[in-house]
Amino acid sequence: MALLWHEACVDLSSRDVLHARHRAGEVKMVDLVIIDRAGSAHEFSAPGGGSLMEAVRAQGIYDIKALCGGSCSCATCHVYVEASGPLKPMSEDENDLLDGVSERREGSRLACQIVLAEGMAPLRVTIAPEE
Ligand code: FES
Repeated sequence: MALLWHEACVDLSSRDVLHARHRAGEVKMVDLVIIDRAGSAHEFSAPGGGSLMEAVRAQGIYDIKALCGGSCSCATCHVYVEASGPLKPMSEDENDLLDGVSERREGSRLACQIVLAEGMAPLRVTIAPEE
């Protein structure tokens, strides 16, 4: 496989910029509850503007592998959104990729395609089983 995820590939600069803007009061945080594959709940806040995938991995929750780095081509960031306010509808590309996973169900989304919009409602998400 040509694309491999390495911890060093995390775009630390954009995440650091978001946290710096948050400290300066420019970015509002989004409250998240993430249920990992072991069933443990992780409650934390992440800065608006980044993706859900980045926020989860930044918390050290690596059940989301994100092999493509967030380019909507691997589906290893498959999650079930269980409760939230309205989200931006999925794109045709996201929908097509989710059609290829065996555990798709209502609420299925790709975490890399969910942007944590400032002021959005708290998000409760379960990480889907590994394919
Ligand atoms: S990280 Fe690959 S599709 Fe989301």
